[in-house]
Amino acid sequence: MSTAHDPWWRSAVIYQVYIRSFADGDGDGTGDIAGLRSRLQYLAYLGVDAIWINPWYPSPLADGGYDVSNFRDIHPTYGTLDEARKLITEAHELGLRVILDIVPNHTSDQHAWFQKALAAAPGSPERDRFIFRDGRGENGSEPPNDWHAAFGGPTWTRTPDGQWYLHLFAPEQPDLNWDNPEVRAEFESILRFWFDLGVDGFRIDVAHGMVKDPALPDLGLTEFSVIAGEDQENHPHWDRDGVHDIFRSWRAVADGYPDPLVFVAEAHVRPGRLAHYLRPDELHTAFNFDFLKCALEADKLREVIDRTITDLAKVGAPATWVLSNHDETRHVTRYGRAHTGVTTPLRDRHHPSDLALGTRRARAAALLMLALPGSAYIYQGEELGLYEVEDLPESALQDPTWERSGHTVRGRDGCRVPLPWTGDTPPFGFSTAEAVPWLPQPENWKSYTAEANQADRTSMLQLYRSALRLRRTHPGLRGEDFRWLDSPDGTLLFERGDGVSCAVNLSEQPLPLPEACTVLLASGPLDSGLLPADTAVWLQQD
Ligand code: NOJ
Repeated sequence: MSTAHDPWWRSAVIYQVYIRSFADGDGDGTGDIAGLRSRLQYLAYLGVDAIWINPWYPSPLADGGYDVSNFRDIHPTYGTLDEARKLITEAHELGLRVILDIVPNHTSDQHAWFQKALAAAPGSPERDRFIFRDGRGENGSEPPNDWHAAFGGPTWTRTPDGQWYLHLFAPEQPDLNWDNPEVRAEFESILRFWFDLGVDGFRIDVAHGMVKDPALPDLGLTEFSVIAGEDQENHPHWDRDGVHDIFRSWRAVADGYPDPLVFVAEAHVRPGRLAHYLRPDELHTAFNFDFLKCALEADKLREVIDRTITDLAKVGAPATWVLSNHDETRHVTRYGRAHTGVTTPLRDRHHPSDLALGTRRARAAALLMLALPGSAYIYQGEELGLYEVEDLPESALQDPTWERSGHTVRGRDGCRVPLPWTGDTPPFGFSTAEAVPWLPQPENWKSYTAEANQADRTSMLQLYRSALRLRRTHPGLRGEDFRWLDSPDGTLLFERGDGVSCAVNLSEQPLPLPEACTVLLASGPLDSGLLPADTAVWLQQD
């Protein structure tokens, strides 16, 4: 349901489709639009409101598609523009909205603009679309400053004529110059291109990184990762005030359409700063990485939930909640560890995980997330209970982090392994039987397939379906009412509308449930009126 006051995106559950790994329709081992179209019914039946599709544009895939060589087309491995149109229509027919991923901070080095820039002279208008500079030191042979790139190494690469270009990520991802009006006009036109095709919104990649301090000052960082500096004040390339002008103009583009369209920002910013992106004339929503990264501990979660709701209420924006995505270790694995939070960017590896415990906690976390007011994101496969594949053979690794870190950081492939749908052996219905998926699936995923989940009344999939059905149909879970109720240390208890409440027990003691309540849904077995450790429950007051 969507009204002018209560547009769909304020409470939507959005399913993230990592298209490369979702479903392969043509048997080449890589997911594609045909595969996604064939599974739309599954998503509609799951009960989500929208899908967000990771970049599907032509790309050399140096960074899984976040290196876009043409923003107005589809990667041939994924399909065609015509298939994209059909997908959008079919999704809409099933009541699913479609959100794309736009990558405005950088292009691929194969993008026509960058190729022209390389061929043009220093100081040319072609180079001004990117960030080219002369180097320092003798003959300009040192990079222009000391910034570190996100996947390792410097943020600068030298071109044959001696100039250097900036890339906050891989060398194959040159940063655009957002001080150039041509860049601004181009992206507004790209937005219109896809809105005209019927898409309902965009996830904005690196929304906090697009504007740089033109002086490009040294940072003095010693850490290998650029991400380490995200919490620094007045950072020369993160969260600069100049990004807000861009988003105001993007909002005006979206508001020019009759349908309620949505932007969701990927913005890693200091506490309190996210609300700036969500002022009424800027973006609608932003990912809540504080929630994703938070340890599964009651006091810490409570603090993040409170801060989120309070901060965003100041600008009238809804909260969002997310547990996993294509960049982070899957939460079943994280929650099975001694330390359940995310601490190190790009992987907190080699810590043992108790997957049975992680799964129990992931079930509880799902009920927590889906009971909170606002919008929520589900990363493909979390509804199947998938864990991080931490033992991928080194020869299979594709994340640029692996090469750029000199084979010291494995990167993010372990959460990107193709989904298991049916059957007992790889590729588990992801592809045709003889195809080899682009990343190998573990043999034991036979008990994690959608088919196996479907056959088990107590599976993760059934839990997600039940929760999403209730969330959609129960008036108490709609709207934005939210109030904490007293509960012992290590537990969370809150009330939504119409006498609905949610209790989460993250302590070691069983938690007595409030009296005069009926259980609507539980993440695990209850023990005669007691909520066991690592379990959550939705309750209805009698
Ligand atoms: C964030 C995306 O989620 C990640 O996958 C990508 O590597 C970087 N942005 C660079 O585009």
